[in-house]
Amino acid sequence: MTTATAQTASGAQLKGADVGVPVRKMQQEYSDAIPDFWFQDNAFLSMFFAGFSANLPEGEAQFIHSVRLFQDRIRDPVLRAQVKAFIGQEAHHSREHNALNESLKSRGYRLDRIEALARKLNQLMRDYQSPEKQLAGTVAGEHITALMSDFFLNKHPEYLRQMAPVMEKIWAWHAIEETEHKAVAFDVYDQHVGDRNLLRRTMIEITIVFFSLNTAQAIALMHKSGQWTNWRMWREAVRFTRKMVRDLGRDYLDFYKKDYHPWQHDNSAALEWARRTYLEDSRTSA
Ligand SMILES: [Fe+2]
Ligand SMILES: [Fe+2]
Repeated sequence: MTTATAQTASGAQLKGADVGVPVRKMQQEYSDAIPDFWFQDNAFLSMFFAGFSANLPEGEAQFIHSVRLFQDRIRDPVLRAQVKAFIGQEAHHSREHNALNESLKSRGYRLDRIEALARKLNQLMRDYQSPEKQLAGTVAGEHITALMSDFFLNKHPEYLRQMAPVMEKIWAWHAIEETEHKAVAFDVYDQHVGDRNLLRRTMIEITIVFFSLNTAQAIALMHKSGQWTNWRMWREAVRFTRKMVRDLGRDYLDFYKKDYHPWQHDNSAALEWARRTYLEDSRTSA
């Protein structure tokens, strides 16, 4: 069990739930009953998010690693508690997506190559990038995951309902927690690095790598789908992508503003709705 506690000046313990970042367990069963094309019955969109899921355990391990590089310097008790809870949430995401990925692999999804590449990329970052650059990469990655979460929880919750039920639940849970902790790595960076130019440059790099890699991986995963000439599928995938670009474009660009902070995009009402809808029965471990 992950604990997310920190001491205030008065000695009281702050838990993740006290600072808006409760750590929850999911632990679902991922059975063969999940349809192959579990998102909108669309092969490409299912492969895109399966590929994304394959990158998550390593990606989130790197997020945790980069924040830990600064953890000892954080004095603010609230931010200390948020960082511990951020680590707890991301560790649970890694574990849950590992379980999902193993299940998809046992059904023939070739996720192993994606996982191996993600491991190599992590090693390269740790070997060649400064702690500041690694943290900037995490802040950029967290902006992208926060935007995607906002897309599913706030702008288009109907898409979650177009997923197979266990998939709907894991992505909703993950999107909720990405929203809850969307400012944590940012605040650590802001207080302990602060270089906005480095952050903007890193954002451009991460955006290019994230979308080109995920698209290439989705296309590679399509190999055995037998869906290459399903034109309806491609039309729907293009429509979905256009909607994402149209609805998230401005929020994405806000990141490059001088005084940007993640909670300037206040989606707390949608977050509250999603918690009530999806997490009534989940256990909070810290
Ligand atoms: Fe996560
Ligand atoms: Fe995250």
